[in-house]
Amino acid sequence: MSANNLTISVAKGDGIGPEIMDAVLSIFDAAGVPLNYEVIGMGKSYYDQGYGNGMTPEAMKSIERNGILFKGPMETPKGKGVKSINVTARKVWSTYANRRHFRSIEGVDTVYSKAGIPIDITVIRENIEDTYGGIEHMLSNDVALSRRFITRQGCQQVIRFAFEMAKKEGFKKVTCGHKANIMKLTDGLFLEVFYEMAKEYPDIQADDVIVDALCMKLVQYPQDFEVVVLTNLQGDIVSDLCAGLVGGLGFAPSTNVGDNISIFEAVHGTAPDIAGKNIANPTSLLMSGIMMLRHLGLLKEARDIEGALLYTIESGVHTGDFGDRSTPSVDTTEFANAIISNLGKMPENVNLRKTSDRSDFHLPNRPKAQKVMIGEPAEVEIVGVDLFFQSEKQADQLAEEIKAKLPDSMELVSLTNRGTVVWPNGSVYTECSTGYGARIKGEGLTKEDYWAATAQLNSVVKVSSTEFLNIIDGQRAYSLGQGK
Ligand code: NAI
Repeated sequence: MSANNLTISVAKGDGIGPEIMDAVLSIFDAAGVPLNYEVIGMGKSYYDQGYGNGMTPEAMKSIERNGILFKGPMETPKGKGVKSINVTARKVWSTYANRRHFRSIEGVDTVYSKAGIPIDITVIRENIEDTYGGIEHMLSNDVALSRRFITRQGCQQVIRFAFEMAKKEGFKKVTCGHKANIMKLTDGLFLEVFYEMAKEYPDIQADDVIVDALCMKLVQYPQDFEVVVLTNLQGDIVSDLCAGLVGGLGFAPSTNVGDNISIFEAVHGTAPDIAGKNIANPTSLLMSGIMMLRHLGLLKEARDIEGALLYTIESGVHTGDFGDRSTPSVDTTEFANAIISNLGKMPENVNLRKTSDRSDFHLPNRPKAQKVMIGEPAEVEIVGVDLFFQSEKQADQLAEEIKAKLPDSMELVSLTNRGTVVWPNGSVYTECSTGYGARIKGEGLTKEDYWAATAQLNSVVKVSSTEFLNIIDGQRAYSLGQGK
């Protein structure tokens, strides 16, 4: 199917959102982009009108019907009860891959452009899981806990997307950024899936770098990287680092891609300090729009608009936030008009890849029911339980009290505090919080046995949560305490 006369949902957003969206749509119109726009109600003013999720029911229906949301930045109302509409939209509609492209642009001076070092890096960030699940609890007044879920299927979705994109768009190398040396199970799973999947793409070089070293290398040798795929939080940080390499967030388009719904947006916020003045830079939203056109198979229009944008910037036209300060800046509308007048021109110093004029776009079907992503069956054996609890006592005393309450079939293996073993053989130098973990093991016992023991122990310590110790397909499936 071609995208001709396809309808997409457009949310102009808050602050500078309407100004930059109008500018971008005027460029689309001038370039003859064959899309219809359904402008929908979404953002801060809709929270204020009492819509708890920041959008009208019609807006939600429109996005689910069209499968494509093109959005301006939106403000999240302050206050503890309200979750970000941007994050909620990405998660509810399963846009599992966040793609951002960072490229040196002639006319945007950076230390790298001055040194003649070209940058062209695409960061693919997992968009749903990780600490962004926002599953957090205060276990006491002093101890906060965040749960970090990484799933095999979540890793597969985003890593598959990275390799497929690399294959389709001619990239030669995909790098996995991770911290599997410390988070052996969560980041370890991401890395394991990465190399499993890499085998299916023998023409693409696959390598991995620990994320802290990756940050250093990106700053020192940015030209060595093509595509980098990461988990959510690390990807968030590395994305902004890369934005800094090419002149800031204003030049870094972002897309959130899922199997059914995809969201295209600028990465910057609503810029309340300059809203309503018609001076905002529409480049980031325009670049995201160009990525959307490519996603929809409108390759000719994408290339024409990208060429005109880069030509305009290269020729020195700039809004107030970038470019040569010694030449006067233009406003948002003038910037858009300059791009329109340059349609048909191409930049001198950037080679835009030659592609066909159209590629296929498959409008997704509405799923009939929620999908449960089930993996290969595995044998799970329970060998114990980690019990997390609050106590102001010291480890030696706690160990005695816990052992006295445990049935003969169970053994207290260790006590940890903030992940460090403090009993047996703890160090007097280890400073303890009031949040402890007790590792209890047994043989041939059931969950019910461990729950019964937990109920008994709750009379000695304040139990806040439990996690079973599993052996999965013969492999230990839990971490060891530090010092073990
Ligand atoms: P911001 O990105 O809105 O502004 C940071 C600075 O960059 C400001 O000085 C602003 O004037 C400037 N700036 C941003 N975009 C610009 C543009 N296109 N042209 C020229 N200058 C630009 O970040 P801030 O102030 O932290 O957030 C403001 C609001 O935006 C918050 O309510 C936040 O929740 C929301 N936000 C929304 C996002 C989204 O919709 N995806 C992303 C980030 C923030």
